[in-house]
Amino acid sequence: MKILGIETSCDETATSIIEGGTKEIKVLSNVISSQIEIHKKYGGVVPEVAAREHVLNILPVVNEALEKAGIKRNEAPKKLDAIAVTIGPGLITSLIVGVETAKTLAYVWKLPVAPVNHVEGHIYANFIGNYQNIKLPAIILTVSGGHTMLVLMKAHGKFQTIGDTRDDAAGEAFDKAAKLMDIGYPGGPAVAAEAAKFSISNFQFSNKSEIKNLKSKISLPRPMLTSPGFDFSFSGLKTALLYQLKKDKNWRNRIPEYSQDFQQAIIDVLVGKTIRAAKKYEVKTVMLAGGVAANKELRKQLQNAVEQKLDNVDFKMPKLQYTTDNAAMIATAGYFKAKNKKTTNWTKLKVDCNLKL
Ligand code: KG4
Ligand code: ZN
Repeated sequence: MKILGIETSCDETATSIIEGGTKEIKVLSNVISSQIEIHKKYGGVVPEVAAREHVLNILPVVNEALEKAGIKRNEAPKKLDAIAVTIGPGLITSLIVGVETAKTLAYVWKLPVAPVNHVEGHIYANFIGNYQNIKLPAIILTVSGGHTMLVLMKAHGKFQTIGDTRDDAAGEAFDKAAKLMDIGYPGGPAVAAEAAKFSISNFQFSNKSEIKNLKSKISLPRPMLTSPGFDFSFSGLKTALLYQLKKDKNWRNRIPEYSQDFQQAIIDVLVGKTIRAAKKYEVKTVMLAGGVAANKELRKQLQNAVEQKLDNVDFKMPKLQYTTDNAAMIATAGYFKAKNKKTTNWTKLKVDCNLKL
C-alpha cells in the first residue's frame, strides 16, 4: 500500500510517500520545507506567516515527494492507495492548508483519506522500518514543542493519555530557556549544544578532585518528579532558571553549566515518570517520540534506564530524521488506519486545532 502523507500543523511544510507492508514501512520520499530561518528573527513561530508560507510551499513539496518516490503525477491516482493528513492539534491556519490540499487531491484522484492526529503521527515514527517485532502494550513518552505526554498504546489506534503537561511542554521549556540565555532558536538543539560543552570540559580532566570541583553548583528543581500521577509541569523550571540567572552576575560565562543542569532537570523528570508508568501499566515496550526525542542525552538516558530498571521491556526510538515534524510519520499512521479500514471520504475531513488523542 502506498500512502501520501501531508503535515502542516506548525512551521514545517512536509510531504512523504511511504510503502507499507505486513512487516515493514519503507519511506520512498520524505520532503520537509522548514521555515526556521523565517521565524528565527521573531524568536518563535508567527502563525499567520507560517500559514502563508505553507500556501506557497505545499504544491511544490507534494510534487517533490511524488518525483522522489518515482511516481509521475498522472500515475498518482493508480499508484497511491490513500492520502494521510494531519487534522490537529496545531495552528488552525496552518492545518487548514494541509487539509484543504489533501481534500482537493483526494477529490481529483478519487482516493480515500486518513485523518491523523499529530501526536499519533509522532508515535508512529517508531513504526517506520521493520515494525513486526514491536510488542504492545507500550508506553510512549511523547515530547515536543507543544506536548509532553505519557501515552498508553494498547493496540493500533487505541491510545490512552495517562499523563500530560499542566503548563509548558518540554520543548517549549527548552525554547524559553534558550531565549532567557539568548543562545538561539529553536531552543532545544541550542541548549543541548551548550550542555554538551559543559560535559566535555568536565570529561577532559582526569584528576578526580578536579572533576569534583568542576561539577555544577547549579541545582534547578525537578518539578513533580515524586508527585503522584503522571502529569508534568515545566513552567516553574523556566522561572527557577530566570531567578538563578538574575542572581548570578557571571551567568554569561556559565551558560554551558546552566544548560547542562536545565537539560538534566527535564531528563530526570521525563525518565523518572516514564519508568514508573511502565511499571504500573506492565508494558512490554517503552518508546520515545516527538521533537525533543532528538535530544541525544534523553535518548541515551531513557534507554539506559529501561535496560537497567525494567525486566523484559523493549526500548524503541525513532531515527533522528523522524523525531521532529515530518510527513513520513503521518503517512505511517495513515497506513495503519488504511489497513484497519479507518479511512474516510474527503468530504468528512475537518480541522480540529484542539484535537485530543
Ligand atoms: O515535534 P516538533 O518538531 O514540533 C512540535 O510538534 O512541537 O518539536 C519541536 C520541539 C522544539 O521545542 C525544539 O526545541 C525541540 O523540539 N527540540 C529539541 C531538540 N531538537 C528539537 N529539544 C531538545 N533537544 C534537542 N536536540
Ligand atoms: Zn510535532
